[in-house]
Amino acid sequence: MTLFKGKVEITDHIAGQPIQAPQLGMPAVQWRNGYGIPSDGQDTNSQNKPTRQLTKSAKAIIIYFSRSGSTELLAAKIAKITSADILEIVVKEPYSGKYQQTLSRANFERQTKSYPELKMSVPDLSQYDRVYLGFPIWAMTLAHPMTAFLLDYGSQLNHKQIISFMSEGGYGQGNSLQRIEQILRQQGVQATVDDQPLVVDGNKVDRANDQLERWLKRIN
Ligand SMILES: Cc1cc2nc3c(=O)[nH]c(=O)nc-3n(C[C@H](O)[C@H](O)[C@H](O)COP(=O)(O)O)c2cc1C
Repeated sequence: MTLFKGKVEITDHIAGQPIQAPQLGMPAVQWRNGYGIPSDGQDTNSQNKPTRQLTKSAKAIIIYFSRSGSTELLAAKIAKITSADILEIVVKEPYSGKYQQTLSRANFERQTKSYPELKMSVPDLSQYDRVYLGFPIWAMTLAHPMTAFLLDYGSQLNHKQIISFMSEGGYGQGNSLQRIEQILRQQGVQATVDDQPLVVDGNKVDRANDQLERWLKRIN
């Protein structure tokens, strides 16, 4: 059975599991700024278990959500270079594989501020100094699962360095960093949110190695 309409190639692996990202390699005219991109309806890949790679020694962790795989590929690349731990954000009801249904749900959730329920166990984050937060941009801000994560577990980010990375449809980071700061502030959390996130077009994350390496060099 073909799950995606487009050509989907396995481009990389995260914690040993394949990543499928249907936007990759799409020319602009077909990509249409990410409009209409399907997923297999299982944020991100129905063949995989949620990514969870935790060690006792790492000082950094990558916490990410990805619906259609592009942000997940960025997470995989960062993990490979930094050896950070990885934790995927999982929602109880996955977003639809159909773009329009995801968009309608996301619009409703935004208007009603009813962010998705998460289905994951979050470890004690006290061993980490640095937390990379990865998400797609939805409606010019954080995708709702990341908002839900910060609302539920933001208190665990107290006194940590927050570094953000995102994939988007070509319209940029929107107010995502301000939103992270706002949610944390509302919880009385003091964290340093780095003001230069990694921002990559969703159809080009497989070609972002140089940008990613420059970005990491600056942070370190
Ligand atoms: C509900 C929804 C809303 C989106 N809103 C925006 C937006 O406001 N600006 C933008 O540049 N891209 C937007 N996009 C495109 C995604 O940010 C882009 O396709 C991203 O690479 C998806 O990442 P993922 O494959 O990790 O899920 C939106 C996508 C969806 C599904």
